[in-house]
Amino acid sequence: MRAVLVDPQRSTIAVETVQDPVPGPGQLLVRVRAAGLNRADLAVRAGGYRVGTGRSVAAPSRPLRAGAELAGEVVAVGPGVADFAVGDAVMAQGSGYAELATVEALLAMPKPSALSWEEAGALPVGLLTMHDALVTNGRWRPGETVLVNAVTSGVGVLCAQLALHLGAPLVLGTSTSPTKWEALRGAAGLDDERFVPVTPHDVAAQARVRTDDRGIDVIIDNVGAAAIATSLEAAAILGRIVQVGRLGGKHGTLDLDELARKRVSLIGVTFRTRTTEERLTVKRAAWGDLADAVAAGVLRPPVHATFPLEQAEAAQEALARNEHVGKLVLTP
Ligand SMILES: NC(=O)c1ccc[n+]([C@@H]2O[C@H](COP(=O)([O-])OP(=O)(O)OC[C@H]3O[C@@H](n4cnc5c(N)ncnc54)[C@H](OP(=O)(O)O)[C@@H]3O)[C@@H](O)[C@H]2O)c1
Repeated sequence: MRAVLVDPQRSTIAVETVQDPVPGPGQLLVRVRAAGLNRADLAVRAGGYRVGTGRSVAAPSRPLRAGAELAGEVVAVGPGVADFAVGDAVMAQGSGYAELATVEALLAMPKPSALSWEEAGALPVGLLTMHDALVTNGRWRPGETVLVNAVTSGVGVLCAQLALHLGAPLVLGTSTSPTKWEALRGAAGLDDERFVPVTPHDVAAQARVRTDDRGIDVIIDNVGAAAIATSLEAAAILGRIVQVGRLGGKHGTLDLDELARKRVSLIGVTFRTRTTEERLTVKRAAWGDLADAVAAGVLRPPVHATFPLEQAEAAQEALARNEHVGKLVLTP
């Protein structure tokens, strides 16, 4: 089969012909129809993406399969698989820049017919990340307000959709590019008066004005260092800031007096150090809460552009240019 291999030592990717993967115990072999791109794909390629569950985590040093999510048809199942059969349409986290991929059956989700292959292949990372961030770690409760930093990102759009779907009375979302706001409004579920796009400069003031000075209850931060001061300024007393991404840097300055005064929780999340059991817990929680909303097309990533597998490099360059709103997708 053809697959994209990443060489983190040389920061390159290449489409190569490799052996077809064989599903192991508990695994599905999936013919990939679509695979979402993620910012982490660029970090893996750059060699800066440390993985592992032990005390010492390490950047991968040898060529590895690219990608983090996919949708496709099951073409074979490994020993012990009970929940899926050959012919099923599924979506899951996994190395999707390839014609075939193995995924853990327990971590797979059935692809709803309401979603196109491209939408389904671009959904798993955002859906699982943002349910875990907003509901599990952010402890969002009915009536609470939400701020999403970098709301035009693939995960950011999903988070705004999710917060509105759950019933948040106000969802602020930052973007450095007001020209992207109109495109956002065309995305599923975001054409809602509770959703307010703001610039990073204006977010703290808007958070005060729109909450009668109370501040925001749950802040989902995909930006990091460049946004930590405004996130804390925007936060309500007993607010939660969930640190998801560091597009704006990983070393920031935090006013610890403000953190203490507001009794704000700052919580870090990542999949990189999660065991399969922990990932299963995340999937079960998200799918248990959201399967119906996904089936109804309420949670649906906007697909900005698609690329054939051979153009994986061009697709990653487009991702790095930051001109997209939502997701870029490969169609092997
Ligand atoms: N913790 C986890 O489990 C987890 C899981 C998935 C993703 N992530 C992280 O979440 C982040 C978003 O990932 P993604 O794949 O959704 O990204 P993406 O689709 O590539 O979105 C990037 C967007 O973020 C904004 N941005 C880029 N550079 C920025 C900067 N320096 N400062 C402020 N905003 C910037 C831009 O929006 P504007 O042009 O509108 O400003 C850009 O369009 C990444 O850091 C990723 O690693 C974490």
